[in-house]
Amino acid sequence: MEINILSFIYLLASVTFIVGLKMLSHPTTARKGNAVAAAGMTIAIFGTIFLYNDQGETLGNYGWIFGGLAIGTILGTLSAKRVKMTAMPEMVSLFNGMGGACAALISIVEFDHLMHLDGMSGLLMVLAGSAAVQGFLLIILLGLIIGSVSFAGSMVAWGKLNGSLRDFSFRGQQAFNIGLLLLILGLATYLIVALPSNALLLFYIIFGLSILYGIFFVFPIGGADMPVVISLLNSFTGVAAACGGFLYDNKVMLTGGILVGAAGTLLTILMCKAMNRSLTNVLIGAFGGNTATASAGPSQGAYKEISLSDAAVVMSYANKVMIVPGYGLAVAQAQHACHELEKILSAKGVEVSYAIHPVAGRMPGHMNVLLAEADVSYEKLLEMEQANEEFSTTDVVLILGANDVVNPAAKSDPASPIYGMPILDVELAKHVIVNKRSMKPGYAGIENDLFFRPKTSMLFGDAKKVLQDLISEVKNS
Ligand code: TAP
Repeated sequence: MEINILSFIYLLASVTFIVGLKMLSHPTTARKGNAVAAAGMTIAIFGTIFLYNDQGETLGNYGWIFGGLAIGTILGTLSAKRVKMTAMPEMVSLFNGMGGACAALISIVEFDHLMHLDGMSGLLMVLAGSAAVQGFLLIILLGLIIGSVSFAGSMVAWGKLNGSLRDFSFRGQQAFNIGLLLLILGLATYLIVALPSNALLLFYIIFGLSILYGIFFVFPIGGADMPVVISLLNSFTGVAAACGGFLYDNKVMLTGGILVGAAGTLLTILMCKAMNRSLTNVLIGAFGGNTATASAGPSQGAYKEISLSDAAVVMSYANKVMIVPGYGLAVAQAQHACHELEKILSAKGVEVSYAIHPVAGRMPGHMNVLLAEADVSYEKLLEMEQANEEFSTTDVVLILGANDVVNPAAKSDPASPIYGMPILDVELAKHVIVNKRSMKPGYAGIENDLFFRPKTSMLFGDAKKVLQDLISEVKNS
């Protein structure tokens, strides 16, 4: 029995993708998981380059292949090393767009190939309408449409996240988008069923319209909703890559594509669930996109402030302190100062932990990554449900640049745009200290009644500066 080494390599690589993905689900194993999956991808790539053999035909073109690999490796390594944590979503978007472009290119190359094979055009005309040709065309067009939408959408998302593009929409845009999508699907169906003589032109029209759809699909979506859209586009790229796997009968490409598609879809669903919003609402709603124009609601009256020294004393003499990190902590880049404060309080015998809301910050796992950067121990991070059980026995909650994720309106005000979103029940603790720079709202653009409640004291200032000052005060108290 002939042992096909390449098939074995593909199987091994597929296993590493699954194991790697599983390991990525926990912070302690995430780095190794990434390395395991990358090793699998490396052997799949080199296996394909050196072992591919279809009835004596090998890949060849080694100059092009290794040239591309070298450029990609250098660019990928440099970008990964240089990217700032807050710029991570835009880098993911850019790379995801490249994946979509590759999938679309595969479809373009394969369609062209199909149309220009010697004698094949004639054969195609005879075979037009046969299930085999239709199936092949269906996969090519799916890869083209999904890959192009993902590419164009990701590029717009990248531009919006790095500030070079602004949100843009016009009256009736949703209807326009639906019409455009129906036109693309109609043309694709006609191409598959009839395979007309001008098929190549039609194919490129579908390609152009798909690019246009990707642009119009992402442009109106609010900047802060980008992580959900990027995750959705990521799943599109996965499906488009899986189409390439079908075309080439390449098992590892198929498995990889399906895994990316499934993981992206699950992440999209989880993010929407954590914000208690439907995907439709994210894609067509204005929440988040229009923070500046969203109503801040009626002012709730007086709030009280706490001085740095009082805050330091309250925390130093507490038995249990819970820190709630939010987007502002990331903006201030105050994670190291935060860890420093935690260590000093712990040294004084205070039990300190962190309450992590699933959508705190602006990207999935934002707070986990931020705190990991400062070497905060994973054991100290409590997930929302776990933290909510702990608040009633907590003396002081220190909120650092978080707002929406602790807004009680999510539970009590059905008219609030965040109504229904699960929040951290910080009010169950004895004291709540809130650090932010002003009384301005957070992402949802709404006022937070928590700031006006009797147990709450405001500690104004940039999170990094406030934490540095708190550290000196705690040391002296
Ligand atoms: P936000 O509600 O956005 O509040 C952040 C607060 O940080 C602001 O009120 C701001 O107040 C303060 N802040 C900003 N810079 C600061 C600094 N340098 N020092 C101190 N404070 C600073 O953040 P959150 O509570 O983390 O909630 C996240 C929101 O984003 C949720 O509404 C969520 O639905 C949304 N969202 C999350 C994701 C993911 S996946 N995480 C994706 C899309 C949307 P001042 O301006 O007064 O300082």
